[in-house]
Amino acid sequence: MLILFVNKNEQIIVSYGKNQNHLTLKNKYLKDVFVDNYDEISIFMKIKKDKKNIYWNKKRYELRYEKLEDSSDFILYFSHLLEEKDFSLKNTKVKETTLRKTDEFQAAFDLAANGISILDSNGMFLYANDFFQKMMAYSMEELYEESCISLSSDEYKEKSKAAILKVIQEGSIINFKKVCVTKYGLHINASMSLRYIKSQNEIIMITSDITDDIKYQVNLEKQIEIELEKHEKQCKLMSHQSRLASMGEMIESIAHQWRQPLNALGLLVQSLRHLSSFEKISQETLNKLEQEMMSKIHYMSQTIDDFNDFFQASKEKKHFNIFNTIHDSLGLINAQLEVNQIEVVINCQNKKNELLGFVNEFRQVIINIVHNAMIAIVNTKRKRGLIYIELLVTSSHTIINICDNGGGIQGKNLNKIFNPYYTTKENGTGIGLHMSKVIIEEHMNGILSVENYQKGSKFSIAFKHKENNKNAELI
Ligand SMILES: Nc1ncnc2c1ncn2[C@@H]1O[C@H](COP(=O)(O)OP(=O)(O)OP(=O)(O)O)[C@@H](O)[C@H]1O
Ligand SMILES: [Mg+2]
Repeated sequence: MLILFVNKNEQIIVSYGKNQNHLTLKNKYLKDVFVDNYDEISIFMKIKKDKKNIYWNKKRYELRYEKLEDSSDFILYFSHLLEEKDFSLKNTKVKETTLRKTDEFQAAFDLAANGISILDSNGMFLYANDFFQKMMAYSMEELYEESCISLSSDEYKEKSKAAILKVIQEGSIINFKKVCVTKYGLHINASMSLRYIKSQNEIIMITSDITDDIKYQVNLEKQIEIELEKHEKQCKLMSHQSRLASMGEMIESIAHQWRQPLNALGLLVQSLRHLSSFEKISQETLNKLEQEMMSKIHYMSQTIDDFNDFFQASKEKKHFNIFNTIHDSLGLINAQLEVNQIEVVINCQNKKNELLGFVNEFRQVIINIVHNAMIAIVNTKRKRGLIYIELLVTSSHTIINICDNGGGIQGKNLNKIFNPYYTTKENGTGIGLHMSKVIIEEHMNGILSVENYQKGSKFSIAFKHKENNKNAELI
């Protein structure tokens, strides 16, 4: 509001107003203040009309004129109309914005790639976006008759009821998974997030169809199962191949083991013929000959039993004596070692130590390592071949070291020798050391490692004592 007291010369004597600018108006003439509207104002003052709207200083005012009694002075009241107008303008703007936002929300709801719906406090549908309607194959009119409980599969009806109560109590529920049934009976795996709007007593529900995700996950699980099965088959195949390879080596060993007693038997048979052609054979000589022949045959039969025993797959884990097992294993390839003039030295601290595991698997490991050492020694044409085996017992571990003087392994190949099918031999399979590692580390919880040592290589098998490691296989 601006109030101007004006004298008869139309000069402003007093000016009141809430704006500081009113002070600058004092003493000014109306024609200088209202440059653009002066004519309009002066006519208005002359005709002495009640009020008039004028536009001044970019604002709209209601102008009133009042003549002071007993004076030629008068008062002009300027009421700022736009304040009210501003308000209604603002109001209109709010309405416009609200309408625009509603349109935007509506568009967003309809374009959303998730089902969005609004439910009352009983779970009945008040609104559902296009996506939800299409997903469930219901029109909006049909949905008004339904609730999120009625659209659940039988086993989820009670859980849906509970979810409605829970969201009203707690405010929100995230990722509630259930099975929904479409109008045509199709079952959909859905994940729901719900939020309770207290002021409206309504629930907003966002629904995602996760049927494809679940199918994908099931497929993935199947795929993993197939891969695991494949892996298991591969392992079995390797184990089989490894046994075949060992068998090849063993047959070679049997041939060696038998060569000597077979020769001896041949000689004995020949000597029998020789003796009988000259003289009558005494009972005593015959007994002696029989004994010798039987001992050779017994030895050969024992060899077969030993090999047969070795090829029997152990069915269950058992405690076995480490020293004796190493000793017996060496017995199986002893003949070959002798032929190749390789000395085997066993240094054992405690001959009573035991391990828990499949004894024949452990034998297989010892034979693999010793056989490899023997081939390395033969290949380097070393005159005094030596395989040194030591059994050490520390405070925490039992360690079996198998060292040879076969020239060792090239540094760059050290980390490859345990890889399946890695071999430098013409007829090698490259499975021996890989299987040995699997047996020691996966079946017996030990560690098998290798390093070059002095004039050859050193394979170490280490087992942690049971009191230090629950899984350790050593007792
Ligand atoms: N004591 C050793 N000295 C030198 N090299 C060795 C020794 N032991 C193993 N190797 C190397 O490691 C490779 C892999 O040995 P692994 O026993 O797995 O297979 P392989 O002996 O070649 O074949 P297979 O055991 O089927 O006869 C060998 O080819 C050899 O090059
Ligand atoms: Mg080998």
